Amino acid sequence: MQTDRPYREAAPYYHARPPYSSALLPALAERLGWDGTGRLLDLGCGPGVLARQLAPGFATVVGLDAEEAMLDEARAATAGAGDRFSWVQAYAEDLPALGLGAFQAVSLGQSFHWMDREVVARHVRDALIPCGAMVLVHHDRPSFDTPQGLPTPPPAPPIPHDEIWALVDSRLGPRNPAFAAPEPYADLLLRMGFTRVQRLLLPGRTDLLVTSDHVIDTYLSTSFAAPDRFGDALPEFRAEVTALLRRHSPDDRFLEWPGDTEVILGISG
Ligand SMILES: C[S@@+](CC[C@H](N)C(=O)[O-])C[C@H]1O[C@@H](n2cnc3c(N)ncnc32)[C@H](O)[C@@H]1O
Repeated sequence: MQTDRPYREAAPYYHARPPYSSALLPALAERLGWDGTGRLLDLGCGPGVLARQLAPGFATVVGLDAEEAMLDEARAATAGAGDRFSWVQAYAEDLPALGLGAFQAVSLGQSFHWMDREVVARHVRDALIPCGAMVLVHHDRPSFDTPQGLPTPPPAPPIPHDEIWALVDSRLGPRNPAFAAPEPYADLLLRMGFTRVQRLLLPGRTDLLVTSDHVIDTYLSTSFAAPDRFGDALPEFRAEVTALLRRHSPDDRFLEWPGDTEVILGISG
């Protein structure tokens, strides 16, 4: 039974999260020889954002997540895709017991930090075929950072994240400190027996224009500001943030900058 479910209520809002670099699949397919024939496993897949983006490089894709509500979103998004996708509710730490077989690649999009990283890296290494790749994907800057590298003049004002977080904090109290700085992922992967580790930085999307509703949904998609944390005050919070955003952009358009997409690759021996 799942007792701690930080993403249960956030799942329906996850669609508002900004996408990864559109260069992700072509860059990885070329470097790693993905030709549409192998198998991909996506750990901590959420609603399948990364699994679906990488899917054209593989014959079949397995997405695994601890949170059933996230998998419901993934299933709905791939309902018309036949049996190319399968979605499994489990903890990544339990991978060997699941009998999922061997994979050409195992990806993790913004999910590795939630896991017992040493245990999961070892399981991933064992699940990969020779020369297979563990693929860690993140926005290089947190989604809530200041815009950089954007078109000038910008087509719309940036999202005033500092002011929105101040409103979140005033209602929910101080956030948990960021996850403790782990051992750099590259060092961990080498220690766990991956033979080569590489880092890629792929250009982030600079063309994302969003509305205030979309901005608020992005916040509600996070574990810190998931809807259940606001209880009955959720409509009030929504109204408060909408008013703040309208002051910044009366025509309700904002430029979102998720940052470049960082990829750490661990190649198995
Ligand atoms: C921030 S979301 C990332 C979703 C998606 N991979 C992406 O790239 O946007 C993190 C996901 O990891 C899942 N998760 C956290 N700990 C997990 C674990 N130990 N095993 C499997 N999934 C886990 C959460 O349920 C959540 O769906």
